[in-house]
Amino acid sequence: MATTRRPMVAGNWKMHGTRATARVLGGDVGRRHEDARVELVLCPPLVHVGVVAEALGQSPVALGAQNLARWTDDGAYTGEVSGAMLADMGCRYVLVGHSERRALLGDEDAVVAEKFAAAQAARLLPILCVGETLEEREAGRSLDVVGAQLRAVIDHCGVAALADAVLAYEPVWAIGTGRTAAAEDAQEVHAHLRCLVAEQDAKIAGSLRILYGGSVKPGNAAELFAQADIDGGLIGGASLNAGDFLSIAQAAAQTQSH
Ligand code: PGA
Repeated sequence: MATTRRPMVAGNWKMHGTRATARVLGGDVGRRHEDARVELVLCPPLVHVGVVAEALGQSPVALGAQNLARWTDDGAYTGEVSGAMLADMGCRYVLVGHSERRALLGDEDAVVAEKFAAAQAARLLPILCVGETLEEREAGRSLDVVGAQLRAVIDHCGVAALADAVLAYEPVWAIGTGRTAAAEDAQEVHAHLRCLVAEQDAKIAGSLRILYGGSVKPGNAAELFAQADIDGGLIGGASLNAGDFLSIAQAAAQTQSH
């Protein structure tokens, strides 16, 4: 099936850096990125979103956040930041359901679905993360687990909501461990996710970008991105180095055989 999915590479800086390092890294990526075949997104820590927005200036690199509140209206939610506030800061994307938030911060399926809806209410594009733990993989449950995580959002928001979203498969055991999923194993999960969406809407499934995340590095990116259903990457550790991040972006730009 011929598709027009434009590859995307998103950097998840997690809880790293200072205003100064964020400004330098954002500015570097913004200045050096010039291949329009791939869409780049930077997701700095929330307090650095403003300086990265400034550093990016008119660069085509998009800005994203790592989290948002599940409530849409302003109100008494101490410590929370709404989707509207992120949009006001210049964010276009927001990560939803990253495994670290699922495991450490109480973002269970129902919360993830609410945050996905809250993002879209603010006209942000959610990057919905799904992924199985090592225990679940070894028990042969990977496809069931990611399917249930995806279904929780479809049940809450409707399949049409995926037309304005990105999906990211991030096996928990591959995140920050240096242990990447084998390209064929990742492809199997990506194909499964696309198939689940296609059962409800083939057109949306065909245009849905599904990123792979989990120890993507310049040395393994090309093989992963060459898979038919892998449309780019969500990059943690390697996104903290402009050269590595841009070389991963190049690998995505060069695999447009999808
Ligand atoms: P990693 O993180 O690239 O450092 O494995 C990926 C992620 O958590 O998004």
